[in-house]
Amino acid sequence: MTKAHILVTRALPGRVLDPLTGLGEVTVSPHDRPMTPDELHAALAGADAVIATLNDRIDEAALAAAGPGLRIVANTATGYDNLDVPAIAAHGAVATNTPGVLVDATADLAMALLLDVTRRVSEGDRLIRSGTSWAWDIGFMLGAGLQGRRLGVVGMGAIGQAVAARAVAFGMEVVHHSRRGPAVVGPSTRLELDELLATSDVVSLHCPLTPQTRHLIDAAALRAMKPGAFLVNTARGPVVDEAALVEALRSGEIAGAALDVYEDEPRVHPGLLDLDRVVLAPHLGSATTETRTRMAELAVENVVAVLSGHDPRTPIPV
Ligand code: GLV
Repeated sequence: MTKAHILVTRALPGRVLDPLTGLGEVTVSPHDRPMTPDELHAALAGADAVIATLNDRIDEAALAAAGPGLRIVANTATGYDNLDVPAIAAHGAVATNTPGVLVDATADLAMALLLDVTRRVSEGDRLIRSGTSWAWDIGFMLGAGLQGRRLGVVGMGAIGQAVAARAVAFGMEVVHHSRRGPAVVGPSTRLELDELLATSDVVSLHCPLTPQTRHLIDAAALRAMKPGAFLVNTARGPVVDEAALVEALRSGEIAGAALDVYEDEPRVHPGLLDLDRVVLAPHLGSATTETRTRMAELAVENVVAVLSGHDPRTPIPV
């Protein structure tokens, strides 16, 4: 039997690839950046398995480039909008992701952004670094307190629920909007999106990117938000219409935004760069050493399972 060919599109931490030894020949991308589509397609030729990141688009063209031997596409992420899951299934391969292991890290980052934008931490940091003179004053750089304020969670999966629990610990009241699930989840009651937007002091996005959620937060949704409210996005950039967000921030329709993800990542809408009440993080939701290692391990476990003739641990439903 010829050895399986396993493509890893970005170097993974530590010795996480060790379990693949003996299962096949592993090729790790030599680049210190995401592969271009052409590089990806060339590297995929003849692959039996690919460990991909959210920067790799695995669509019909990529599958054709891989050829008929491809058995698994293991995404090192929970979100899988970079994969054409039905096309992967039609190709006879299985797609997997890394749910569960990044819930706490992502919820922590959402809270970090929420606290930063409401208490103006990054803005203050910029002020100090700019050399501007400042002194404590009773009215200096006042932010918004969270206690007794309402958090609206859009997408009440595991990450949304973890954010809700943290927000309750900060004294917030929580409501949520989700397409599925019970009307009451932990401390939170489900509302229609327009009611959530109209009554929440902070709106935090935790839904997947799908055709239904693309631009879910558009100009009309931003207009529907409470004046003085904040938007936090740690989900996927295209859930928000970034140009509309810039307008809503410029006109003062909402008070601020804290973003970890962007519509055309890694490009950031230039209008966001000029606004003070905006916190920008470079897609750090799952970026702790422990979490990224666990994500890589889970992707490898899925490949080991499939190449050994077993079911993967975390298949993506088709
Ligand atoms: C990160 O954004 C993920 O979806 O895992």
